Amino acid sequence: MSDAYLVLEGLTLAYGKTVAVDRLSLSIAAGELVALLGPSGCGKTTTMRAIAGLMPVAGGRITLDGREITRVPANRREIGLVFQSYALFPHLTVFDNVAFGLKLHGLSGTALRTRVEEGLTTVGLSDFAGRKTPDLSGGQQQRVALARSLVMQPKLLMLDEPLSNLDARLRLEMRTELQRVQKESGVTMIFVTHDQVEALALADRIVVMRGGGIEQIGTPEDIYNRPASAFVADFVGFENIARIKGDRLATDAGEIAPGRPLPDAAGLAWRPRAVPLGTGPLQGRVRGVSFAGSSREYVLETPLGTIKAETDAALPAYPLGAEVAFDLPVDSAAPLQVLG
Ligand SMILES: Nc1ncnc2c1ncn2[C@@H]1O[C@H](COP(=O)(O)OP(=O)(O)OP(=O)(O)O)[C@@H](O)[C@H]1O
Ligand SMILES: [Mg+2]
Repeated sequence: MSDAYLVLEGLTLAYGKTVAVDRLSLSIAAGELVALLGPSGCGKTTTMRAIAGLMPVAGGRITLDGREITRVPANRREIGLVFQSYALFPHLTVFDNVAFGLKLHGLSGTALRTRVEEGLTTVGLSDFAGRKTPDLSGGQQQRVALARSLVMQPKLLMLDEPLSNLDARLRLEMRTELQRVQKESGVTMIFVTHDQVEALALADRIVVMRGGGIEQIGTPEDIYNRPASAFVADFVGFENIARIKGDRLATDAGEIAPGRPLPDAAGLAWRPRAVPLGTGPLQGRVRGVSFAGSSREYVLETPLGTIKAETDAALPAYPLGAEVAFDLPVDSAAPLQVLG
C-alpha cells in the first residue's frame, strides 16, 4: 500500500492575513481511515475545506489519486464532505435525499434506484427509504448524510465532527458503524474529531494537529503509548509530565532526584494509573480524592507540584491531608522527545 493517494505538500491556508495552516505536509494511502485530532482552532476544518476545494490555497500542492487538484473546482474533485450539521432536505424522503446528487449526475430509472438502495443497505436504512428526514433520529439522519456521500463513490470522503451532536450511546453505535462502512466500501476517509477516544477507536492513523501544523502522525498505539511531545502526551491523558535535567526530574514547581538512571529524552510522562501509591521513594500529601467507580483518583501535592494518581477502588483509601509514599517509575513512563 503506497502512502501517496492523497498528498498535501507544504499546504498553506489563510483567511486574509491570518495564516490558519502553515506548510502542512501529509500523505494518506488509498483505503485509509485517518483522524485529524486537535484542539479548537488548530486548523482541522480549514484543512478539510481546502482539500475539498472550498477555500483557496495560499501555498503548496494537493494531489489526489495521481492528479494535482490544487486549483481544480470543488465539483470536479470527486470528494465527499459530511459536516456536523448534515443539511438534509427536510421536504424530501430518505430515498430522495440519497438520490439527489446522483440525479444531478444524470442517473435515473433502475440505475438510480439500485445505487440508492445499495447505499441505504450499507448504512442499515433500507426500511426507511420512504420516510421524511425530520422523522428520523439523530443517528439515522447521520446515516442518511453518510449514504448520500457514499453513493457518489467519491475518491475521498471527509467528515467534520460527524458524531459530535449525537448522545453518548448513539455516538458509540455510529462510531462502530462508520468503521464498518469504511472498511466495507473501501473508501479513503478523513474524519475530524477533538475527542481522543473516538480517534483512537476508529482510525488507522491519527494526525495530531496544533496551531496550524502537524504535531505527530502515528497509529493509535503510537499516539496513545508513545506520544512524541508533551503536547500530545497531555492530549492523550498523560497528566504528569516532568523534564529530565541531568539525573533529576523537574517541573516549574520544583525538582527531585529519583535516584535511578533516567533515559535519554527531554522529559517523561505518566498516566495517573502508572503512579503507584503507598510505595516508592517519593512523598506527597493528598489534596484531593474522588471515587470513580472501579478506581479512585488522587491529587497529590509533591515537590514536583501536583501529581495525579489513580488506584484500584478495592485498595484502602487515603484520606485528605494524608502523607503518602508514591513512585514515578521510569519503566512505566513515556519518554518525550519534545517538551511544550
Ligand atoms: N472564516 C474565517 N475567517 C477568519 N478566520 C477564520 C475563519 N475560519 C477559521 N478561522 C481561523 O482559522 C483557524 C483555524 O480554524 P479551523 O476552523 O480550521 O479550526 P478547527 O481545528 O476546525 O477548530 P474546531 O475544533 O473549533 O472546529 C482559527 O484560528 C480560526 O479562528
Ligand atoms: Mg472545525
